[in-house]
Amino acid sequence: MSKPSPVGAVMIAAARAAGRSLARDFGEVENLQVSKKGPADFVSNADLRAEETIYAHLTKARPGYGFVMEERGIVEGSDKSNRFIVDPLDGTLNFLHGQPHYAVSIGLERDGKLLAGVVFDVAKNEIFWAETGRGAWLEQRKLRVAVRKKLSESVIATGTPWLGKSEEAHATFAREMLAMTPTCAGIRRYGSAALDLAWVAAGRFDAFWERTLKPWDIAAGIVLVREAGGVATEIDGGDVMKTGSILAGNEDIAPQVQEQLRLAAAFGRQAKLT
Ligand code: IPD
Ligand code: CA
Ligand code: CA
Repeated sequence: MSKPSPVGAVMIAAARAAGRSLARDFGEVENLQVSKKGPADFVSNADLRAEETIYAHLTKARPGYGFVMEERGIVEGSDKSNRFIVDPLDGTLNFLHGQPHYAVSIGLERDGKLLAGVVFDVAKNEIFWAETGRGAWLEQRKLRVAVRKKLSESVIATGTPWLGKSEEAHATFAREMLAMTPTCAGIRRYGSAALDLAWVAAGRFDAFWERTLKPWDIAAGIVLVREAGGVATEIDGGDVMKTGSILAGNEDIAPQVQEQLRLAAAFGRQAKLT
């Protein structure tokens, strides 16, 4: 059994504290579903409260570290090597609709390299954590990516582009689904990219792909997948932390998914020409 490093333990404590605040607010959201005004404003406040909790915890324990936070943005630290990458509530739409599948995600980058990640599934009380060289863990259980080799037996997770995304993003996704669905056992879209990656690390999904995510959606999950023996790369070979277009899975399944995504892209180019 591995223990987190001191900074890893701080990240876990911060995630748990934010989780307590989110769990309380989630109970309220269930009541607000039926109110006239609906829970939208309440949820954005819940999100901010959780981020405040994380920020307070982490700055107290590691003053000087920088931050990239979804709500607060970039906070420069006096320590230029270390920065936390934080999504206080990943799966906001689930949370808003009273669906118990949402997470706190905290990553740590040191000298430009991802070093540690914590993803806390609040509703299921599951803490996924990983640190470079210490492995990936779900509580006491060491995580390994799934060993499946055949795409036809694999369950693949993805994320759909949201309402405000470009027509092109929606068309790309439609082509990718068209290419993927006939090749695998099933596709899932559960609505939390951080948990999608944690579930790849835990072997619950064989692979996951999604385009144009943000650094806070994926920083922690990338460490989890890599430490669980999987690959987490950019779909088209670029820098995943820059484009946010991610493909994660085991070494056998990820390339097979990538091949289908390439076919989808080639089909898109062809369609534009004709
Ligand atoms: C979202 C979730 C979702 C993904 C979206 C993200 P949020 O994060 O990770 O699964 O499909 O692209 O924006 O808004 O709930 O923090
Ligand atoms: Ca997110
Ligand atoms: Ca968020």
